[in-house]
Amino acid sequence: MPARRLDGTAWAERLRRELEPRVAAITRHAGRPPGLAVVLAGTHPPSEIYVRNKIATATAHGCHAVLHRLPDTATVDEALALVRQLNADDSVDGILVQSPLPAAMGADAESRVFDAVDPARDVDGFHPVNVGRLVQKRPALVACTPLGCATLLDREDIPLRGRHAVVIGRSDIVGKPMAMLLLHRDATVTICHSRTVDLPAICRTADVLVAAIGRPGFVTPDFIKPGATVIDVGINRDEAGKLCGDVDFAPVREALGPEGWISPVPGGVGPMTITMLLSNTVDAAERTEQRT
Ligand code: GUN
Repeated sequence: MPARRLDGTAWAERLRRELEPRVAAITRHAGRPPGLAVVLAGTHPPSEIYVRNKIATATAHGCHAVLHRLPDTATVDEALALVRQLNADDSVDGILVQSPLPAAMGADAESRVFDAVDPARDVDGFHPVNVGRLVQKRPALVACTPLGCATLLDREDIPLRGRHAVVIGRSDIVGKPMAMLLLHRDATVTICHSRTVDLPAICRTADVLVAAIGRPGFVTPDFIKPGATVIDVGINRDEAGKLCGDVDFAPVREALGPEGWISPVPGGVGPMTITMLLSNTVDAAERTEQRT
């Protein structure tokens, strides 16, 4: 018997419904809806799609979401000026600068621009202040993808205390914050990466395995302990152009067996990520309200 599916689409819909009264309360008390500003610099087709989905979701749930475009030729100083203007705008609760920035902006552009976002409005959770607060287990805006994974595990009541959680991938926006969220739920956490020796053997000891590698079908049945939970963060295209994750879904689902769980791609982490952006925007707006 195959493993159970972690239905990100259904959980995301439910979470968004739960956010609706909070959006309504903010709108009532502040006299305006929660505001989200999205900065898109240049023309990067996947970013166009991501940004469109982010704006549409926020708008559909009562937020005032505005897209701010910068041309391909924009400089870092222009991007910084826009971010500073948004930081000073009282109607903006959340700011998101879509990555990647145009290559012409230079290698350090992303860190400079992300660092310029007011930490209280940093709905991507990329700012070093929010990362530090997360590490110290203090209230923080947390990166949407790992927050979505953790929320999926929480909502499905998947036990983490004392369990071995293995994260494949050490990026700042997924692997590292994911490891922290698992640690704060009392899991024993291992972070694996491209230099890890005998990755399948380590993964076979995982009760919870999070795959954030960016290679289609990388996780195969030889990585799997029966009964484990597998969260697939990958968004890739296979040779036929079809959307697929980092996990070889059907054989891994079979190897996990009926006690296991697996998140599909699409319909797993993706809808949760976008919902966490909405949730972070609502959190940021509520904190702004509490200060005023
Ligand atoms: N590009 C790909 N994923 C993301 C994300 O989560 N946030 C931002 N800002 N850019 C991205």
